Amino acid sequence: METPGTDSSVPPPHVLIFPFPIQGHMNCMLYLSEMLVYSGFHITLLLTDHNLSLLGSSSNNNNHSHPSSLPDIPRLRVLSIPDCLPADHPRNLDGWVELLDSLKTNACPLYKSLLLDLCKMDVSADGFPAVTCVIADGILPFMIDASEQVGVPAIAFRTASASSVWIYYCIPQLIQSGEVPFRDGADWDEPINSIPGMESFLRRRDLPSPCRLAKNPEDKVLQLLATCTAHSERTRGLILNTLETLESISLEQIRAHMPTTYAIGPLHEMVRAYRSQNNVCAHDKSVSLWHQDCTCMTWLDQQPRRSVIYVSYGSIAVMTQESLIEFWIALVNSGEHFLWVVRSDLLRGEEWTNIRDSLSLEVRKGTEERGCIVSWVPQVEVLAHPAVGCFLTHSGWNSTLESIVGGVPMLCWPFAVDQQINSRLVGEVWRIGLDMKDVCDRTTIEKMVRAAMNGETASEIRKNAHELAKMVNNSVVEGGSSFENFQRLIEYIKSLCKRNVQ
Ligand code: UDX
Repeated sequence: METPGTDSSVPPPHVLIFPFPIQGHMNCMLYLSEMLVYSGFHITLLLTDHNLSLLGSSSNNNNHSHPSSLPDIPRLRVLSIPDCLPADHPRNLDGWVELLDSLKTNACPLYKSLLLDLCKMDVSADGFPAVTCVIADGILPFMIDASEQVGVPAIAFRTASASSVWIYYCIPQLIQSGEVPFRDGADWDEPINSIPGMESFLRRRDLPSPCRLAKNPEDKVLQLLATCTAHSERTRGLILNTLETLESISLEQIRAHMPTTYAIGPLHEMVRAYRSQNNVCAHDKSVSLWHQDCTCMTWLDQQPRRSVIYVSYGSIAVMTQESLIEFWIALVNSGEHFLWVVRSDLLRGEEWTNIRDSLSLEVRKGTEERGCIVSWVPQVEVLAHPAVGCFLTHSGWNSTLESIVGGVPMLCWPFAVDQQINSRLVGEVWRIGLDMKDVCDRTTIEKMVRAAMNGETASEIRKNAHELAKMVNNSVVEGGSSFENFQRLIEYIKSLCKRNVQ
């Protein structure tokens, strides 16, 4: 990996990284930060005060501190700004649009003044040089604009799949063709024709959830996603946590409009490969907003090979009690062993433990015998455990990539935003899992769990998942596409930093 240039007239690259402040965006942007540190860069990871406090630390502006739950990486510091929302605001799927609004209206001016300060200092008290480049979450286009206004070149990073980014880019065509908003009585299994490259597999129900929820073309969320994606065309570049062979069609389409697009994923595997090849002491810490319950690893150790179905709905999904009960009964009735992540905020205003007390004795007994329910797990480790036979997932992009890397087949129950298209890719394009979207009844879930764990279908998706894992794992080592794209990205960032001082 590169070391910083020795030309003393050029400042050392110092990149400020600003993820949208929810778990699935913070994870992979931390991995990106770590990879940039290994390339000799200084990194300032900008979080919100709220998330920093959940990580076990607090800071204000330049008085940075290192949260105890984050890996201790040299040349990486953490700063924070307020998200300007009340402490008890739901920062999940129910509240993400308000979070975005607040960042735009209230936090953006604070960000701008912080960035101005960070650019002025040649070297700050903690030895960090001036910020020379920003990589901001692509769903924060106003932060990208603010960076450029301060004079710092800014690149967009999207944490979702390239396929979902491509669909968001095509929202104007979907509207123009009349395919979105859905007309009353529309057949959700009908093919969608206005997304170039996806005609052979994309159905109405596979479009990201804002397309099905929109009642009119001016729908706020629909327009928000279309606008931030179109904005990336005007930024210095676009980084995607994906890889060439996995999403070649979407990447080709995106590059026709945004030529400086870098596919450098899966980032968590890039980091693991770098650490193992360079004997970097591996640490098990990660940016986790929930407390990890590692007792599940001991439980997994006691289970036979490929006997466990791992179940998780990611970090922002909010479920109804009725859906949770259907899953619970199905998991028990399937007869399989299950490791189930039930976050403390998964149910709207209800404790899941209250539901347990309302279940039949038989279901409670089955849970005790075969289940392990925890509030948060070290997911990458869980997916690497030999006892795990399948992942019942909400098809968030990080979870999808983590499962692919682990060679674990998926049973997909997509919930929102990009998850509907991710699950279609899993079930129909890569054929490494089964897509269970838009059903939530105990009989179907039980049937799908059995099919994904045992029998002919299970063997087929398992075989495909193993083959795909090999291909993906090859992409992150020297000569692999993500490795080489990452080298190109490093050179590109350095060139932006140089141009900025000339
Ligand atoms: C949503 C989107 O669906 C996703 O595609 C987008 O890019 C980010 O926002 P989210 O619900 O956060 O995603 O899911 P996902 O992208 O899968 O990210 C969840 C992360 O939390 C994963 O990295 C996963 O490893 C981690 N996780 C989850 C844990 O570490 N422990 C758990 O118990 C559950």
